[in-house]
Amino acid sequence: MSLICFASPKGGVGKTTLTANLADALQRLGHRVLAIDLDAQNALRLHFGVPLTDKAGFVSGLMQGNSDWRGQLRQTPSGVLLLPHGAMDLRGALDLAAALDRDPDLLGNPIREMLAEPNLVVVADLPPGPSQALALLAPMATMVIGVLQAEAISAALVPEIESGRFLGTGTMAALLAGRLRVVLNGVDLSSRLSRASAEAVARHLGFRMLGAMSREETVAESLACQRLLLDHAPESRAASDLKEVARLISAALPPPAAMLGAAPQPTPEAAVLPQPLPAPQPTVEASR
Ligand SMILES: Nc1ncnc2c1ncn2[C@@H]1O[C@H](COP(=O)(O)OP(=O)(O)OP(=O)(O)O)[C@@H](O)[C@H]1O
Ligand SMILES: [Mg+2]
Repeated sequence: MSLICFASPKGGVGKTTLTANLADALQRLGHRVLAIDLDAQNALRLHFGVPLTDKAGFVSGLMQGNSDWRGQLRQTPSGVLLLPHGAMDLRGALDLAAALDRDPDLLGNPIREMLAEPNLVVVADLPPGPSQALALLAPMATMVIGVLQAEAISAALVPEIESGRFLGTGTMAALLAGRLRVVLNGVDLSSRLSRASAEAVARHLGFRMLGAMSREETVAESLACQRLLLDHAPESRAASDLKEVARLISAALPPPAAMLGAAPQPTPEAAVLPQPLPAPQPTVEASR
């Protein structure tokens, strides 16, 4: 129903971390969330406690002719539904790129089916930089969240964000730029350079800047423990930053079915999806 994509012009900036933890935070706000990993690093699953040895996944399955995404959904302890990417070697990645060039519907059709599910918020973790997956998903997205780090190089990347250039070319880029929002990750308030970089980016981006996440050991630690941040360090500053960004994303989505007092009406296909957990009790933030 709604699609939120996490992308970035530069790698290693926190896309996967934000995809996993914002999926969890949106679920806690009452949304029914499916997180899909479209990056061959196959790392999103680790945030949800899937063992390193478990290498199965949706995108790698596509290359073996299996487009049945419902059959591959994992119900994670957080309540978020997960489609891991699956392990893929260089040959597999090159073959996938060629297959998507020939037939974008190979991925486009399953994504459209997911978006036809009532009351489902799909959050997608994408590879760094431009990618086929990003080009395919951006036109379907409710919001593309560009992640930047609070570091000097990010000021140089602002034009990429403002023009939408890393989402497409020409008029298409300009059209897609309208749905781009930025989360600035890794803000270190004790570092003059980090603050100055963050302030410069925020000044240039204005309303396009959705929020900021502080740099904190607890964030990396939570991945090391294969736990989500709101379980691992719920009182941390990073956790409260995360909840604030989730609140702003939630405000741009249709209200969760549970909050409208209506159970979602499953389509025949949706009937095989795990059904939503009972609505969480409203948090202090949610009731404000
Ligand atoms: N706010 C933060 N504070 C501290 N560490 C962080 C923070 N955000 C992310 N990290 C750490 O930074 C590293 C890179 O994060 P992540 O893998 O999410 O980036 P990415 O953009 O998905 O990378 P890639 O482009 O390779 O896919 C991880 O070790 C993660 O734990
Ligand atoms: Mg990543």
